[in-house]
Amino acid sequence: MAIRNIVKIGDDVLRKTCRSQLSFDDKLATVLDDMAETMYKAEGVGLAAPQIGILRRYCVVDVGDGLIELINPVIIEKSGKQTGSEGCLSIPERFEEVERPMNVTVRAQDRNGNNIEIKAEGFKARAFCHEIDHLDGVLYIDKIKKVK
Ligand code: CO
Repeated sequence: MAIRNIVKIGDDVLRKTCRSQLSFDDKLATVLDDMAETMYKAEGVGLAAPQIGILRRYCVVDVGDGLIELINPVIIEKSGKQTGSEGCLSIPERFEEVERPMNVTVRAQDRNGNNIEIKAEGFKARAFCHEIDHLDGVLYIDKIKKVK
């Protein structure tokens, strides 16, 4: 495993739309292992492939209850609302209030290509939304709650 360099805001790679991951091979497994190691080292709760310069649709998340790998994730259900502080490993030392759904259901594949479906609420739902946004070039600062 290896620590990867985390791309920082200002780099165009963070603004691209990622393509689907079609092969479930050793190369993907290695990148996923590296992403988890990189996320833990940086003390983050999620990391998306574009954040290490790979324009493919996958991410890793661990909000404290175990590592989750999401390949080609799609939010198929969402409900409720929550507003809370959010940060991003690509935007160091900045935290802002962002509104997110309280509950989401995500359909994805695991590293072997098996279909998975995961329900999440609260902070985990927030993390899923944040990482999946990265796959479409969206950063949380695009969603900062407007002061009315
Ligand atoms: Co982020």
